[in-house]
Amino acid sequence: MKIGILKENNGDKRVAVLPANVETLRKMQVTVLVEQGAGWQAYIADRYYQEAGAEIRQAEKIRQEADLLIRINPFTREELQQLGEGKVLLSLINPLSNKQVVEGAARQGVTTISLDMIPRSTRAQAMDVLSSMATTAGYKAVLEAANNLPSFFPMFMTAAGTIRPAKVLVLGAGVAGLQAIATARKLGGVVEAFDVRTAVKEEVESLGGKFIEVEGAADAQDSSGYATEQSDDYKRKQQQLIHDHALKSDVIITTAQIPGKKAPLLLKKETVEQMRAGSVVVDLAAASGGNCELTENSRIINHQGITIIGNSNYPSELPADASKMFGNNLVNFLKLIIDSQGNMNLNFDDDIVKNATITHNHDIINDRFKS
Ligand code: NAI
Repeated sequence: MKIGILKENNGDKRVAVLPANVETLRKMQVTVLVEQGAGWQAYIADRYYQEAGAEIRQAEKIRQEADLLIRINPFTREELQQLGEGKVLLSLINPLSNKQVVEGAARQGVTTISLDMIPRSTRAQAMDVLSSMATTAGYKAVLEAANNLPSFFPMFMTAAGTIRPAKVLVLGAGVAGLQAIATARKLGGVVEAFDVRTAVKEEVESLGGKFIEVEGAADAQDSSGYATEQSDDYKRKQQQLIHDHALKSDVIITTAQIPGKKAPLLLKKETVEQMRAGSVVVDLAAASGGNCELTENSRIINHQGITIIGNSNYPSELPADASKMFGNNLVNFLKLIIDSQGNMNLNFDDDIVKNATITHNHDIINDRFKS
């Protein structure tokens, strides 16, 4: 089987595999084709891929020759139309928000595998690209907040007086949120965090954060550990709690999401307008509508002295390590679908393969997408 690694689009600096991953794939009896310049922005020259056993090709050739085409960013409808029946595409398709791409792939007879649909189970942890990318985003969000803050993060006792530490509020304590808490603490910030899943309280505290709770809250998580939607009464209390704590914060990092739904609105315009001038909000949910009412995706704005950052691709700003994490997760997944002769074998009895595959043989076969 031939695997083709395509260069990212949309200015993304990452690449889906590193030379070390190519070596592993070669040992799995697979031929690896890499698009010319694919790793350039992650600081990996073509010759390193060649030394690892890959062949360098132009994109067009890869689309023709490879059986399995891989890129981190999703394929567009136009790209799909250029592909022959029977090809397999693997990327972060975000199928629940990209219905037309999925339907187009089914019509075209293209098999699509979306790594963002891998279940967040213990067995799938080594393939969980969403967690890897959220880790980079949580880390970068805090660095960006610190860079935009007009004051220090840590406390300083100097001859010129005492500098108080930055107060940081993290909304949503999943993977990105926990990494944000850890990073903010390492920089010397005083951190509070809120999440509808009270089960994360212990994790927040173990990282040195203070967990703030809505009075009388029940743990709002479903059987797979994801957040569920809230009652109106709970939402009212939650809004007040966030408002009160936001006014005391210098930095707010928002990371709340409910998979497949618009991001919950947690930080209202009125709250932002009452925050201390110079404060910074970094909204990691910018791409799915934002947790802050004022967020503009892919933009940094200043609203009445408050900086609001809506960067939705932080992993691209850490291209070396984000690519390394993605590549390692990817290879762990490929081991599930490549047999000992180096051929593709999609075993739909395996729950990870079944959940990640969206279209196959002209059909949409993914239950979560269908429901
Ligand atoms: P996650 O699912 O692990 O965590 C989200 C957390 O939000 C969960 O703990 C959930 O309980 C909580 N939550 C849901 N509704 C809430 C509410 N109403 N109030 C408070 N908390 C609530 O997700 P992960 O992987 O940490 O990603 C977080 C966000 O970051 C997502 O929106 C994701 O798309 C985004 N992201 C952004 C990147 C960027 O570069 N900007 C890169 C990677 C992820």
